[in-house]
Amino acid sequence: MEVAAFERDGRTMAEMPRLARWFVNRSSSRRSARRYAWLRADGALADRSVCLEIGAGNGEFARRVVDGMHPARFVATDLDARQIDAARRHLGRYYPAGIPATLELHVADMRALPFPDGAFDAVFAFTSIHHAGPVHRDFAEVPRALGEIDRVLRAGGVLVYEEFLHLERIRNWLTDHGYRIDRLRRRFRHEWVRSVRVGGGDSSPAAPETSPAPSPPAPRDAFRP
Ligand SMILES: C[S@@+](CC[C@H](N)C(=O)[O-])C[C@H]1O[C@@H](n2cnc3c(N)ncnc32)[C@H](O)[C@@H]1O
Repeated sequence: MEVAAFERDGRTMAEMPRLARWFVNRSSSRRSARRYAWLRADGALADRSVCLEIGAGNGEFARRVVDGMHPARFVATDLDARQIDAARRHLGRYYPAGIPATLELHVADMRALPFPDGAFDAVFAFTSIHHAGPVHRDFAEVPRALGEIDRVLRAGGVLVYEEFLHLERIRNWLTDHGYRIDRLRRRFRHEWVRSVRVGGGDSSPAAPETSPAPSPPAPRDAFRP
């Protein structure tokens, strides 16, 4: 798919076409409800967690977690400032008195996250990791984004994500970097994964990969759709 591009800090970035952005925001509530239900059923979030969301879209998932699980802090990020504006508008409808202080919205590039090492207990990324690079479906920048997620996640923290591209490569990257995949659910072409950052794996950005590495079959859990 051809996507428009824009320059940011000297790099060429992909920009979601207007129609794709409209679709993503329009259907976000339904998808966020499913993701939130999965998270809840799984009991994945410890009390007073500090959370980061990558590619937060219209902020609907963040809202559900903030209202339902009361994290100490939820930082919803997106590269596209128009998405952050859309999230502010969307959230404004739920919080007429103002967005809670625990829910922060920031423009941030997943490949260079503006947060300290080990700052988060949980990182969420729903169909956003594959957007890491300017070329749609290109894996080259994904390891860099995963390296950044790894850097900002504390040991024992969880990365919860949904993807429909680069599925095995992303799982391989995680297991190669000391993650345990402890929940995996498949739904149509999508994988929903909860992984735990077990040890102090190498958090430096990995070199771009161009070919998939072989790996054993992923574990599957008993989660029901
Ligand atoms: C397919 S949308 C998913 C949005 C939301 N998670 C959802 O499912 O409704 C992908 C999101 O990733 C964002 N994105 C693209 N490149 C990014 C980058 N390098 N860093 C952070 N976010 C990025 C896009 O602006 C977009 O909001």
